[in-house]
Amino acid sequence: MTELKGRDLLSLADLNRDELMGLLDLAAGMKAGKINRSHERKVLGLLFSKASTRTRVSFTVAMYQLGGQVIDLNPNVTQVSRGEPLADTARVLDRYLDVVAIRTFDQADLEAFAGYCQMPVINALTDQEHPCQVLADLLTVQEAFGKLDGLTLSYLGDGNNMAHSLMLGCALVGMNVRVAAPSEYSPDPKIVAQATALADGRSEVLVTTDAELAAKGAQVLYTDVWASMGQEDSAESRGPVFTPYQLNEHLQALADPEVIVLHCLPAHRGEEITEAVIEGQHSRVWDQAENRLHAQKALLASVL
Ligand code: CP
Repeated sequence: MTELKGRDLLSLADLNRDELMGLLDLAAGMKAGKINRSHERKVLGLLFSKASTRTRVSFTVAMYQLGGQVIDLNPNVTQVSRGEPLADTARVLDRYLDVVAIRTFDQADLEAFAGYCQMPVINALTDQEHPCQVLADLLTVQEAFGKLDGLTLSYLGDGNNMAHSLMLGCALVGMNVRVAAPSEYSPDPKIVAQATALADGRSEVLVTTDAELAAKGAQVLYTDVWASMGQEDSAESRGPVFTPYQLNEHLQALADPEVIVLHCLPAHRGEEITEAVIEGQHSRVWDQAENRLHAQKALLASVL
């Protein structure tokens, strides 16, 4: 994947179809044990302004397995928490690090940071997108079905960063994507338009308020928490609005008999997904979580 050397991953749409499929192939190879540990002396910075288990640990382990080092740059232990400007922080870190993964709120801050850096900048989650998660999700789907093209992924719940990156990722690889969300929590129309343009008539991009319509015949059912990080204050009022979108046995029964169930985690059992579904025979959430490691290792190796 030399074509990705030195490149940022701020949005899944930064990749074209061949680059995305190439990353998935590389990740599958690494999962099978083909690892090039030639990244000694390379250093990854993790600049995370939000909590994280999977992304933080999988990036750290991935970099160690590639032979490199990691610095955890929690803003509380840097001058960021004392107001040092983003532009100054970015230009200084660019002189020390080889690659940085950033988890923050505003996509515009991530893009501004990248604008000050020569090193690759990776989106480790913003309020707009979560591209690294979708690399792992698509790897999981490919493992389950042996292909991506022509499959249908239905996302149920909040039209959030996960919905956005799934729409872009599915459109790129030729999968149909349906997002079923309450009308006031629909995905950003700009991202819907971008995904539709990427699909270019090869696959369907559908936004609906009808969870049953979305679930019907789908090969992949996907959900995420109803209140993302930073939205905890509205969690109580969201509950009744999102109840029809719960990924439960009823919606699962409408899907393809071979359906797989995905959740990016952490999960709130009894809210967006039932215990029976997340722990059921169709669930692939633990493979999906493991695949964060393999997908990000492929990404790091490629951008380095
Ligand atoms: N799915 C995901 O990004 O998990 P973390 O928030 O634990 O990193």
